[in-house]
Amino acid sequence: MTHRLAFIGFGVVGQGFADILAKKEETLREKYNFDFQIVAISDMKLGSVYDPEGLDMTKIFEMIENGQSLSEYPDAETGWEPIETIEETNSDIIVEVTFTDMETGGPALDHVRTALKEGKNVISTNKGPVAQKITELQRLAEENNVEYKFEGTVLSGTPAVNLALKNLAGCEINKFKGIVNGTTNYILSKMEEGMDYEEALQKAQKLGYAEADPTGDVEGIDAQGKTLILANTVMDADIDLNEVEREGITELTLDDVQKAKDEGKRWKLISKAEVEDDAIEAKVGPEKIPLDHPLAGVMGPTNALTYTTDHLGDVTIIGPGAGKEETGYALLVDLLSIVD
Ligand code: HSE
Repeated sequence: MTHRLAFIGFGVVGQGFADILAKKEETLREKYNFDFQIVAISDMKLGSVYDPEGLDMTKIFEMIENGQSLSEYPDAETGWEPIETIEETNSDIIVEVTFTDMETGGPALDHVRTALKEGKNVISTNKGPVAQKITELQRLAEENNVEYKFEGTVLSGTPAVNLALKNLAGCEINKFKGIVNGTTNYILSKMEEGMDYEEALQKAQKLGYAEADPTGDVEGIDAQGKTLILANTVMDADIDLNEVEREGITELTLDDVQKAKDEGKRWKLISKAEVEDDAIEAKVGPEKIPLDHPLAGVMGPTNALTYTTDHLGDVTIIGPGAGKEETGYALLVDLLSIVD
């Protein structure tokens, strides 16, 4: 069977995933028996296009490079909004990679709901819908006999979600602690080298680590959402975003960072949650940690997460936390888990 993919959103992450698919097309067919076509793209800025026979992705990338709207793609349906693309195309897998709105779920929430109701699988790195409505969306997926996969919502392609849900199946996770935002970890690392906050933030944006609106990163909302996602999926909590205490890194000055260095310490934006007596405490905030602490050595856009389990004690995973290819890869893992 040939799977047909429709991309809702085609920014950094979507293009990163499309690059991987182009590079790995043959391997995917031979090793994983996975045949696919990309039939539609609907993007707020780039325009939208649908060809039931499959799009020529070399042409798509050329058009993007030349600043052309995808709506100028020849001999295809163009101008379709996301919902129409989800409902009316012959796609069976929806790749939801529009911008994240952590506080409401944003338009992405409607996209995911619609796709699941249509009986289409969804793979997504979008944190908003998972943070806001995971229980409802998982129920919808089950009712419609399809899958909703979101590995890339935490630690990009580093398998933090699958590690907890699949590889540690049967273990109880009653605590986690880590660094779950690449942008702020990158900024703090650069500030330690003497770069000022604004320049470091701009670099993080250029490198594709930051959110479309980087306020979400530096004020800790992105990490707050990821902490919520982990609490509700990995620890079976049932809490809302505002139940995760939050502080970002905007108050930290170059001076604070340098002073910590002189004390043999390092500022990190730490996310943690712990279940005690059936209640959960979850929090995101900057902490000054000693240099010999394992999290102190996690630098740049790298992230790390330690799960405390009943059978194994602490299990730690370290790897990329953001980036075009790194987050794009999470979608490949999700895709292969669906078509397995
Ligand atoms: N803006 C996010 C980060 C991207 O910096 O971690 C990955 O979720």
